[in-house]
Amino acid sequence: MTTPLELQSLAIDIAREAGALAARRRREGVRIAATKSALADIVTDADREVENLIRARLATERPGDGFLGEESDASASGSGITWVVDPIDGTVNYAYGIPAYAVSIAAVSGPATPAEWSALAGAVFNPAVDELFTAARGEGAELRSAIEGDRRLQVAEPSAAGALIATGFGYDPATHAGDLARLQTVMPLARDIRRIGAASLDLTGVAAGRIDAYYERGLHPWDHAAGALIVEESGGRVGGYAGERPSRTMTIAAAPEFFERLTDVVSA
Ligand code: IPD
Repeated sequence: MTTPLELQSLAIDIAREAGALAARRRREGVRIAATKSALADIVTDADREVENLIRARLATERPGDGFLGEESDASASGSGITWVVDPIDGTVNYAYGIPAYAVSIAAVSGPATPAEWSALAGAVFNPAVDELFTAARGEGAELRSAIEGDRRLQVAEPSAAGALIATGFGYDPATHAGDLARLQTVMPLARDIRRIGAASLDLTGVAAGRIDAYYERGLHPWDHAAGALIVEESGGRVGGYAGERPSRTMTIAAAPEFFERLTDVVSA
């Protein structure tokens, strides 16, 4: 049987390789290949090329596993393990040259749906600043950073000044009024708000204590699969609306005590 540590090691190797390709393509110039759910929802040539690289590497190393990625068709798992992949999370940042984008790779067991899977290993790599966030189930989480050095990750409860809370807004203009109304209800808990632009980096930001909490409606499985495990292995909690698993409807992440308070407000 494959252990979470073995899956983590593969996730790290492939995330670093894929990140290097994304960064190289970024230096060469980014071309928007298509729009998806809305005009603002873009895919670049690099998103597709990086996903192809990840998929090919996984097919060679672990041919029986399933695949669920942002830019290509899903394939079912024969082994019980599925790889959930966002080749470039933060595509809009990537297209604008903002150094906050990441390759996100998770290995999950069970059905390939966030309500039912159990995440076993994850790697989120931001090549623009050379930072890797990673976790394996039951083994804790760590940051390997060119900026900070290496350290174990541990979430932090907010101080009396209030919580630094990150969130995001969907690409569909029809959802903006609801997202802004929710933000207004959250503001009394916040010392300030951040919109980082990459869900995987929002989640790993919580894990690293760089932000106190994160919530967003509308995420896809590949946006949160790796980051959610990294938060949990850092002592934090991840959920949806009160009592639910994280889903397209809502994803909330924070240290345990603040998680309860934020979930109450977001779910009201
Ligand atoms: C998006 C980013 C963004 C979030 C969107 C995601 P993508 O992923 O994570 O921060 O607000 O909901 O779809 O499109 O850049 O891979």
